[in-house]
Amino acid sequence: MAELKTRVGIIGAGPAGLLLSHLLARAGLDSWVLERRSRAHVESRVRAGVLEQSAVDTLCRAGVGERLVREGIIHHGIELRFGDRAQRIDFEQLVPGRNITVYGQREIVKDLIEARLAGPNAHEPVSFEATEVGLTGLAAEEPVVHFTVGGQRHRLACDWVIGCDGFHGVSRDWLPKAGVKTYERTFPFAWLGVLANVEPSSRELVYALHERGFALHSMRSNDISRFYLQVSPDEDLRAWTDERIWAELTCRLATVPGWSLRTGPILEKNLAPLRSFVVEPMRHGRLLLAGDAAHIVPATGAKGLNLAVADVRLLSNALVAWYTHGSAELLDQYSETCLRRVWRVQQFSCWMTRLLHRFPSDDAFERRIQLAQLEAVATSRAGATSLAENYVGLEHV
Ligand code: APR
Ligand code: PHB
Repeated sequence: MAELKTRVGIIGAGPAGLLLSHLLARAGLDSWVLERRSRAHVESRVRAGVLEQSAVDTLCRAGVGERLVREGIIHHGIELRFGDRAQRIDFEQLVPGRNITVYGQREIVKDLIEARLAGPNAHEPVSFEATEVGLTGLAAEEPVVHFTVGGQRHRLACDWVIGCDGFHGVSRDWLPKAGVKTYERTFPFAWLGVLANVEPSSRELVYALHERGFALHSMRSNDISRFYLQVSPDEDLRAWTDERIWAELTCRLATVPGWSLRTGPILEKNLAPLRSFVVEPMRHGRLLLAGDAAHIVPATGAKGLNLAVADVRLLSNALVAWYTHGSAELLDQYSETCLRRVWRVQQFSCWMTRLLHRFPSDDAFERRIQLAQLEAVATSRAGATSLAENYVGLEHV
């Protein structure tokens, strides 16, 4: 049994865990990151790709924004398509000075791992392929994380344990049953995600409601496009040939005169459920949760990654205050402060999902109401402004 010691034990090397470890290191605080999968795996996962300005600012302040700034694509609007309508939501008009940046999540993970393993904090460990993670000593406020790497069992004594292990992680199980509340909603459809080696057919993201379901045109660069199609929750991915995918995307997106969809080689396709999940509180003694370990939002609002960054921005400040000034105030407020933002973002993400998807249970009346609501959002300044404010990221929440 190897005996190890650090200040902050972090479970999970996704954006939340890696960014937190990096922000702590920049404040001179050591941490140890434990990741169940291999480095190659976490760097290859295709996930989200839209960053609010506050997330970009945090990554840049953390010293990992150089490639993001160089390769990220700044957008000043998004487009809504429904019926034969196309309506641009113009951020410059509606929320002047605010925008979003398109930059793949896996690029952020690569940048953070690079910085972690190559930068001034290269001595700070990330233990990949760390399995059988267990936790003791929470009640005694001397938490110990137990894990196995390379067949050897390790004991990692630390002051704080941060669960950044995502929705399917183990850290949430360490919350006591009494006093913990979970809120959950699973939507009656999933997303078929596609990564394609083709130049984007639109300069900005296109969100489309079509009678056959939702579709989204996003991108990763000037020659890599990202698409999503609403499919049934139990869809068989094997039934989606490349030809069928392009035919369906063209059908749902090419609904305005003079616009056509470029097609090309499909690099990856995957299925993802759409769900909402929140656990309250996000802290139990010396255990705190951040990111998807504590909350999941449906991807329609492009908020999951931004919520994870917001959590660790607050958490790193709170831990720094505790170590440098002995103040527990921010730590004691952490859960409540995060949950206020989580529910605002949950509301927006569910509203976007409701607005832009075909719900199997909807009847003809509800479908007309849905179109009228889209019309209202797209054509009323107040409606469009509210969407824009939430989309670029709520300030002061
Ligand atoms: N032990 C160690 N690591 C674990 C364990 C475990 N038992 N369980 C899960 N992990 C790892 C996963 O392999 C993953 O690398 O925790 C990491 C969690 O990362 P994410 O799921 O990316 O979660 P988070 O960092 O909170 O990022 C959240 O990014 O994925 C996007 O849009 C998504 O909103 C999400 C955001
Ligand atoms: C993405 O680019 O992966 C993306 C963009 C917008 C969303 C969800 C995902 O709402």
